[in-house]
Amino acid sequence: MHLQPAPTRFVALVVLVITALVVVACGGGAAQEASPTVGGALMTATAAMPSSSPAASPGASPTASPAGTPGGTPTGGTEDLTGWATPSDTENGTIALLLPETKTARYESADRPFFEAHFQELCPNCQIIYNNANQDAATQQQQAEAALTNGAQVLVLDPVDSAAAAAIAEMAKAQGVPVIAYDRAILNSDGVSYYISFDNVEVGRLQAQTLVDALAGVDNPQIVMINGSPTDNNAGEFKKGAHSVFDPLVDAGELTIAMEYDTPDWSPDQAQNEMQQALTALGNQVDGVYAANDGTASGAIAAMKAAGISPLPPVTGQDAELAGIQRILIGEQYMTVYKAIQPEAEIAAELAFALLTGQDVPESVTGGQTANNGATDVPAILLTPVAVTQDNIADTVVADDFWTVEEICTAEYADACADAGLE
Ligand code: BGC
Repeated sequence: MHLQPAPTRFVALVVLVITALVVVACGGGAAQEASPTVGGALMTATAAMPSSSPAASPGASPTASPAGTPGGTPTGGTEDLTGWATPSDTENGTIALLLPETKTARYESADRPFFEAHFQELCPNCQIIYNNANQDAATQQQQAEAALTNGAQVLVLDPVDSAAAAAIAEMAKAQGVPVIAYDRAILNSDGVSYYISFDNVEVGRLQAQTLVDALAGVDNPQIVMINGSPTDNNAGEFKKGAHSVFDPLVDAGELTIAMEYDTPDWSPDQAQNEMQQALTALGNQVDGVYAANDGTASGAIAAMKAAGISPLPPVTGQDAELAGIQRILIGEQYMTVYKAIQPEAEIAAELAFALLTGQDVPESVTGGQTANNGATDVPAILLTPVAVTQDNIADTVVADDFWTVEEICTAEYADACADAGLE
């Protein structure tokens, strides 16, 4: 993972997406829930202005996606989403970055360093209060309270619990402190100034479509769904996108969702338990696994290896974690979803700086798009996710310098790298 000056090559490839393009049919299948499904309002994104940018075309194979090609033609809005804020070495002030957990690698290895580096460039004399809540919503509430007590003038909040975080946004609002919902929505509060994330319904759709493509030729394949945390609004959006692909096939008798779980805290250990239960219930008959991110994929894969399943069926993921990319290379995991975290973090840093210093945010940053959080239409920036399989590792995460070939191709993976043409 490398810190780079903004804008990255991928920024030019980022598009504003109208998530409403995905028509959703939720639920369905012979699903069994290990825990309640994500409840409450899901964010609904709307484009306030007509957009000329079609979202990534449904069913596009990863290699066919121009969004995955460095220097390729952007698929939509071409304006740079960073680089608009004017840096200042005379301004000072304090902001807080509050991230949700540490079991998923991205937060400490990408979100935090990219955000801090960019914010510090914009405002060398400003202070950043940083906290990670370790998946505990009460801890996050305390961290937010402490940040406000310690003078935070803007909160950048990636909530552990999208609904409970309304209390944080309301508390900030009462003190005149703007809040940016970072990566995960904050529901049911009008104290949220911006929402910066990815098209999360599209993430789920890409995962499901890639899995369905991998299962072509298998008659009525039987899959297990390992969803994310029931308190994370994104988990509901991933699930919604995935079901929009799976459910019509289930209805047509062409796919069976044999077991479906929501995974508290996105815990890989919990995902492993869920997969173990599913294997026992299904007598190890599993043709594919929908895992919502690379962490839950690692748990599912560990359970299947422990059960002696070989070869492993296709397994999905998300985050393009180094371990996930390496599992893809050796065929243990079928796909992941690459989300360009650097622009996400840098856009958040610019928004935070603009809110701190009273700079205007150009209209082109959101393109007029909003996402309704149950209380208000929040100006929204939704970046484009890209499906990654063995075929396009080089064109996506490597081309973007998210991971270098040296980082991926350690001795253990040298042969797989050579086979995949990674050098
Ligand atoms: C994020 C994913 C992450 C998951 C677990 C989601 O809200 O969008 O990138 O894998 O949370 O932390």
